Amino acid sequence: MRLTDKVAIITGAGAGIGRATALLFASEGAKVVAVDLDLQAAEAVVAEVGASSLAMAIQADVSVLADVQRVVAETLDRFGRISILFNNAGIVPHGKIHQTTEAEWDRTMAVNVRSMYLMCHEVVPIFLKQGGGDILNTASAAALRSVVDRAAYSASKGAVVALTKSMALDYVRDRIRVNCLCPGTVDTPSLGQRLAAFPDPVEARKQFVARQPMGRLGTAEEIAQAALFLVSDEAAFITGIAFSVDGGFTV
Ligand SMILES: NC(=O)c1ccc[n+]([C@@H]2O[C@H](COP(=O)([O-])OP(=O)(O)OC[C@H]3O[C@@H](n4cnc5c(N)ncnc54)[C@H](O)[C@@H]3O)[C@@H](O)[C@H]2O)c1
Repeated sequence: MRLTDKVAIITGAGAGIGRATALLFASEGAKVVAVDLDLQAAEAVVAEVGASSLAMAIQADVSVLADVQRVVAETLDRFGRISILFNNAGIVPHGKIHQTTEAEWDRTMAVNVRSMYLMCHEVVPIFLKQGGGDILNTASAAALRSVVDRAAYSASKGAVVALTKSMALDYVRDRIRVNCLCPGTVDTPSLGQRLAAFPDPVEARKQFVARQPMGRLGTAEEIAQAALFLVSDEAAFITGIAFSVDGGFTV
């Protein structure tokens, strides 16, 4: 029970890494606020947590200021404080830069980067008032190593790493730790969608696996365990890191 009585906002909690983290944090005693564009998915996770009095689902687009403000207000109404902010919602667009439309570029930056600005902008003042808090952002191995056909995505995740490091130093004396995760390829619904876009999804999956040094993809649960460590008291001396959980992909 490493997160007893902590209140954790998790964005993108309806599927994949966010879902696995919501379930793990709840099992460690956290009160989880599961935020997702897809309300049904977030509600399903809350139902899975089992004790709905200790978890709540909120529908929100985290790239929209009014939605983010509502998430923070509803969390404070329900639980009175925020201990952990896990900025995890993200999208993975495909393509080289000349294939990326302006709309795709803008949406990628909005969901993957602007959302983190908005969430942090609204939550940090609460952390400052409370005397501390933990922020964890989901970046990607693609921020650290080139991956083909991920131009906008890699740029957005590079921004997440830089934002994480910048914020970590800004608040290092305020008992606010800021870290980010850099997952390698993880078997989640979003990966399924990416594979489905290939002419031969079975072959594409083989290619994804072939580029993994460990010869397999990661699981959402493995990323969730790293998230748990980074927001727990065991990681009290860790801030500003880009924590790779990638089966050796960036070695
Ligand atoms: N799966 C991978 O291989 C992988 C690798 C590295 C990094 N990541 C990152 O991990 C994070 C989670 O990825 P995943 O694979 O679990 O994705 P996923 O698509 O399986 O789940 C993401 C969830 O976020 C929600 N979401 C999307 N846009 C949103 C928005 N604007 N507001 C609120 N919720 C929104 C979706 O509805 C979905 O439930 C993302 O930031 C992704 O970039 C994933």
